[in-house]
Amino acid sequence: MKKLGIIYGGISTENEVSEMSAKSVIENLDKEKYEIHEIYISKYGKWYEVKENKKEEIYNLIWYLKDLDIVFPVLHGIGGEDGTIQGMFEMLQIPYVGCGVLASSVGMDKVYTKIIFEKAGIPQTKYVYVKRENNTYKIVDENFDEEELKIEKITKKLKFPMFVKPSNSGSSVGVKKATNVEELKLAIENAGQYDTKILVEQAIEGKEVECAVLQDGKNIIASTVGEIMSAEEFYSFDAKYNMPESKTLIPANIKNEQIEEIRKLAIKAFKAIDGKGLSRVDFFIEKETNKIYINEINTMPGFTKISMYPKLFEKVGISYSELLDKLIG
Ligand SMILES: Nc1ncnc2c1ncn2[C@@H]1O[C@H](COP(=O)(O)OP(=O)(O)O)[C@@H](O)[C@H]1O
Ligand SMILES: [Mg+2]
Repeated sequence: MKKLGIIYGGISTENEVSEMSAKSVIENLDKEKYEIHEIYISKYGKWYEVKENKKEEIYNLIWYLKDLDIVFPVLHGIGGEDGTIQGMFEMLQIPYVGCGVLASSVGMDKVYTKIIFEKAGIPQTKYVYVKRENNTYKIVDENFDEEELKIEKITKKLKFPMFVKPSNSGSSVGVKKATNVEELKLAIENAGQYDTKILVEQAIEGKEVECAVLQDGKNIIASTVGEIMSAEEFYSFDAKYNMPESKTLIPANIKNEQIEEIRKLAIKAFKAIDGKGLSRVDFFIEKETNKIYINEINTMPGFTKISMYPKLFEKVGISYSELLDKLIG
């Protein structure tokens, strides 16, 4: 039997989301195949072993982790999905599920994801890169030259509405839509509270769709495409987790050719960041033009039984437990 560590919680704003994902993973793992060790990281970065719902602090973390055969970091966001914990596993030589250091950190950082996708020729929305230094904001151009931020520089390049996001974020935390200059300024200041790197993007009006990617041995496969029917104007934190009116539609209500195109782009995006194991790749389809734009790649997507990632594979005949076996395998 394999000693499998399931790590969840974490220091990011997605601590509770990760806990939900992990509970689902643990519930659906084959207990005959795996000796499961539940490991919880608190919001403050303390590590605990969880046994029969009781938490006991782990004092010798290195020793504890080295005793496991493999770990599955079911962690979202900073400190879990951004390459830092993956770096620790590499140093300790502990096999782990999912993307490595580079893919995780590139996928987590929205500005750097854009730079890689641009290089790969994957269509994406126009954007402006803003940097905060203490309380001043700078605009960073294609040559990485910085100059003082003037709002006109953004409005010259992008049209309203725009989306403003902290570069390192997830679950829509810190993401705001701006429809005028006043809102744009506030949205930049808001995003600046979460990160020093800020991404301002042209908004796309249309459908929001997602495609799951899985590395199955040597093959990289893409699922079908699912559509988000958000209960709010955009897929905010509440719309994602607190509003049952938000629905998903699998497969998406789009033409077959578009599903095929998105599946290809999803695999391309996965390869472009040097992905391993799994990722969920998110896209927009513009209403007016039917054009496809990539939005982002999530290297550790939501993993509850009703999350988009496992549901997309379930639709194409790979069950939740099978998916877990493949990932751990
Ligand atoms: N350029 C955009 N056009 C339209 N909607 C957007 C755009 N960027 C983000 N959104 C909306 O905001 C949500 C969160 O943004 P996203 O970039 O996916 O961040 P997160 O990593 O937090 O999920 C998206 O699911 C979508 O509903
Ligand atoms: Mg998203």
